[in-house]
Amino acid sequence: MITTAKRLNTVEEYYFSSKLREVRQLAAEGKPIINMGIGSPDLQPSQAVVDAVVVAMQDENAHQYQSYQGLPELRQGMADFYTNNYQVALNPVTEILPLMGSKEGIMHISLAFLNEGDHVLIPNPGYPTYTSVTNLVGAVPVFYDLKEDTNWEPDFEALERLDLAKVKIMWIGYPHMPTGARGSLELFKKLVAFAKKHHILLVNDNPYSFVLNDNPMSLLQVAGAKDVALELNSLSKTFNMAGWRVGMLLGNAACIDAVLKVKSNMDSGMFYGIQKGATEALKSDKTWFDSMNEIYKRRRVLTEQLAEKLGCKVYKEGVGLFVWAKLPEGITSSEDFIDSILYEKSIFITPGTIFGSNGEGFIRFALCVKEEKVQEAIARF
Ligand SMILES: Cc1ncc(COP(=O)(O)O)c(C=O)c1O
Repeated sequence: MITTAKRLNTVEEYYFSSKLREVRQLAAEGKPIINMGIGSPDLQPSQAVVDAVVVAMQDENAHQYQSYQGLPELRQGMADFYTNNYQVALNPVTEILPLMGSKEGIMHISLAFLNEGDHVLIPNPGYPTYTSVTNLVGAVPVFYDLKEDTNWEPDFEALERLDLAKVKIMWIGYPHMPTGARGSLELFKKLVAFAKKHHILLVNDNPYSFVLNDNPMSLLQVAGAKDVALELNSLSKTFNMAGWRVGMLLGNAACIDAVLKVKSNMDSGMFYGIQKGATEALKSDKTWFDSMNEIYKRRRVLTEQLAEKLGCKVYKEGVGLFVWAKLPEGITSSEDFIDSILYEKSIFITPGTIFGSNGEGFIRFALCVKEEKVQEAIARF
């Protein structure tokens, strides 16, 4: 047996990778599974997006390696998307880097900036990939608390009390996953000031700002944010293109350049047709967001009913693709709670604990399930 690298001891297989195997097995055994776990949109991209890919397949250079920085029209489309939707001006040549999903960006940013032993501020609860990637590159996760009573926003006094000398990167994400907390421009201003004071690279992970949210915000709206900040954005949820793997990194030009240095050594450009489809998607206007949100709104009402039927208390202020709910009084283990529902009712819900210790006592429902299925789930109780 060839021994694996020591870094593999620092991570587990991604929760969904192993849990969904179990869920698929239950479905294969004939269980009528309703999967409310992962946030993978079941709705279709617009027809214009699909047509753009089909047409692109006939282009002469469609099957060649593509530029490491993406097609100029894709980068321009990303710049226009930021101008039109967030009122943020970005230089498409120096301040934007297309990615194959924002998840890979987390690894590229970490490889570009972290040495072994560097510290990384990570929200608890938060997206698990920040922690696993930090571990994989030999850096040290330092968790900062997000709590219900502070509306899932960081406590700056507590942050200042930490030993920040070795902190190189701080991950944030508003609208926040898993809770759905919106954040605010005021919060972003404070975070930029904090990052500047302590010479920390601040990265906002922003894939959910158009889902059930009437005020999409970008960290880059803060004056001077580009001095210390990057933002990840994604077409996965906004345009129902999770499987396409298209995201983007935006902000500080020197940092983008450093990330390109890593990324250009790892892949050889994004498939041409996908870039053409993505360019088309980015042109979508308010009617697209409104039509998606009409559907998500109805699903959210039903999902809240389901959560309440389970005795949970819904975080009503939440936006984005999930419903975050607190377990009934007296129930202490989110994982036991979701397992009993999975085995007894064939409904899969995500336990809050996979997002960190502060997720204990909470569960997360994805809004990627058709209304009839949510109604069926309600009827099972
Ligand atoms: C907070 C957060 N960041 C990043 C991602 C990854 O998105 P992408 O599909 O762009 O890689 C997800 C996906 O679920 C997410 O929830």
